[in-house]
Amino acid sequence: MIFDRVKPLDAILAVAEKKSLKRSLGGIQLMLFGIGCIIGTGIFVLTAAGAQKAGPGLMLAFAIAGAVCIVAALCYAEIAATVPVSGSAYTYTYATMGEFLAWTVGWALVLEYAIAASAVSVGWSGYFVGTILNETLGISLPAWLSAGPLALGGAEGGLINLPAFIIALLITGLLMIGTSESAKFNAVLVAIKVTALTAFIALTLSSPAFDANQFNPFLPAGVFGGFGTGVGAVGAAATIFFAYVGFDAVSTAAEETKDPQRNVPFGLVGSLLFCTIFYIFVAAGAIGTIGGQPIMGPGGIPFPAGSEELARQCALPEHVDALVCSNEALAHVLRQIGWSRVGNLLGIAAFLALPSVILVLLFAQTRIFFVMSRDGLLPEFLSKVHPRWHTPHVVTALTGFVVAVGAAFFPVGQLADIANAGTLYAFLMVAVAVMVLRRRRPDVPRRFRVKGLWFVGPATVLGCLFLFLNLPIDAMLVLPLWTALGLLVYFGYGRSRSHLGRGTVEVVDDVAGEETAIPIAPPR
Ligand code: ALA
Repeated sequence: MIFDRVKPLDAILAVAEKKSLKRSLGGIQLMLFGIGCIIGTGIFVLTAAGAQKAGPGLMLAFAIAGAVCIVAALCYAEIAATVPVSGSAYTYTYATMGEFLAWTVGWALVLEYAIAASAVSVGWSGYFVGTILNETLGISLPAWLSAGPLALGGAEGGLINLPAFIIALLITGLLMIGTSESAKFNAVLVAIKVTALTAFIALTLSSPAFDANQFNPFLPAGVFGGFGTGVGAVGAAATIFFAYVGFDAVSTAAEETKDPQRNVPFGLVGSLLFCTIFYIFVAAGAIGTIGGQPIMGPGGIPFPAGSEELARQCALPEHVDALVCSNEALAHVLRQIGWSRVGNLLGIAAFLALPSVILVLLFAQTRIFFVMSRDGLLPEFLSKVHPRWHTPHVVTALTGFVVAVGAAFFPVGQLADIANAGTLYAFLMVAVAVMVLRRRRPDVPRRFRVKGLWFVGPATVLGCLFLFLNLPIDAMLVLPLWTALGLLVYFGYGRSRSHLGRGTVEVVDDVAGEETAIPIAPPR
């Protein structure tokens, strides 16, 4: 039977106990790690796309996406505190609904983490080319070196996004050297990013340019823009959801965390709440000062964000300064309201800080592959731990290269929507896993228990489905196609090699290089 390979929870906990990765992260470090991943391209770059979809309703979109993430975070917090091991949604699904569904989740997480890392690399490249090269150094990089061939609405004649490619490779190198150095580096960048957003909020909300009339009409594209269109407040919510992706990465570091039962829920919920509040204020500041009405196409429907039609409109003198036309949304707002130098500083902050987002996403992706390989579903050489660096260096190098290639050739908006599709599937499965685990294993100690799971669990499932169904149609279609490819890999490779399927042992590479065999129950 296809659903019968459920990994025994006790074996998972025993493996965690052997802790093959060094436990070096504390609660605050973990929260910084979460914020490092959450605040990024979503707020710094995709705010413009969100406004083009929803107008001032972008604020509502942030609230909708934030609400879905908060219920999902509560589910993550409970399951991560109960099963404190690497692998996030993949491991949780393995322990509750079995290997087959776990594989589909692990496979979807590639969209979440690897594709998102590519998206953020492209977002970073926009600030690097705009603020650093153009505004600060007066250098203009030719279009063929600053955008991929598939970039829509922007640089025509793009061939390769070289800055995006290079930053992804640099971050890969950093991660290969070791987590603890990387976490410190991350903390500094988080401080820079939070300072920049705080300055943005203070300057916009106190600006004489701030005008409540800018919020009128509040919902120019309505709440629901129509199936597959990706517009309206909920369409914007489905896209801007990207701005929250990453809080779950905290749980993937559970195996490297001290006292995970306490620190993981703290890191998850804390980082998310912090960012939600910031986003709503940032959106209010941007829209209240320079306005955020979408550019309407035929039939009063906004032109699709990132489309060629929109790019043509944005070239017209009446639209050239619109929020929805900017590639560096937040820096642009500050320049428009007379704070050009601070705007450039914010651009520099994004340039310095977005790499921390790439770092966390890549970290999460490599740890998921690490666990899948340790389970025998991916080739064993991927789970090799470096004797000196104590990091899974092989899988980090391979993943980083693929992320860099994605960043070099694809546009940011499409990458973000695709990442969202995979993420929503993973969140949904985690909510189901929490509910299943409560029913099947009420005996396992839970240091963090969601109050009112009867509401929080189904609310997460429905919220994720709702956002997924409001993505643009092409992003929606990527998930089933990617899953179909994953099933070929599973039935062609993993299913016959799975440690659990063979009923043999689970081998753990200790940091000291020892190997420990943990017997696990054969499949039923
Ligand atoms: N949430 C992250 C960002 O906005 C992925 O860039």
